[in-house]
Amino acid sequence: MSAETPHPQDRPLPVSGAVPVPQQPSPNLYALLGPEPFWRIARAFYARIDVHPTMRGMFPADLEEPIRNQAEFLIQYFGGPTEYSDRKGHPRLRMRHMPFAIDVAARNGWVACMRGALQDAGIEQPHRDAMMAYFERTATFLMNRE
Ligand code: HEM
Repeated sequence: MSAETPHPQDRPLPVSGAVPVPQQPSPNLYALLGPEPFWRIARAFYARIDVHPTMRGMFPADLEEPIRNQAEFLIQYFGGPTEYSDRKGHPRLRMRHMPFAIDVAARNGWVACMRGALQDAGIEQPHRDAMMAYFERTATFLMNRE
């Protein structure tokens, strides 16, 4: 997929009705990396959230469920098994994030935690840049407050 082609998940999704499973990005990072790096990313991300002065309050006290959501979602998004959707249905990321006030500061805080998490999880280039490009644009797409 070229940088100019919007990913299907970048478009608002219908609230009900059949929705196609989002296209997998190319290259298929799951095929290259397997599941473990995505679990390392999710754990590293929430370890950073856990000690973050402004982000922590947005997340539940117990971070085990968010870690699982994130890891399974990323595995699915990056081309692996669909455990996330098998358990929870279509991701509908914008809808699922509406309850959380995501302004530019929250968006930037999330992205900073994720950038650090990719480093903590030992994700090497060029995969790190490919993942960050996805995270940067999706986090912008999820902004829902001025
Ligand atoms: C690339 C950007 C992002 C991705 C791929 C992503 C993905 C996800 C996923 C898959 C879930 C689980 C939803 C569920 O199954 O119920 C989730 C939950 C959540 N996200 Fe995000 N998110 C992103 C950005 C953000 C941003 C920018 C914020 C706020 C600053 C945020 C805050 C939350 C919160 C508070 C939850 C609830 C924790 C949970 O129940 O898992 N997310 N996110």
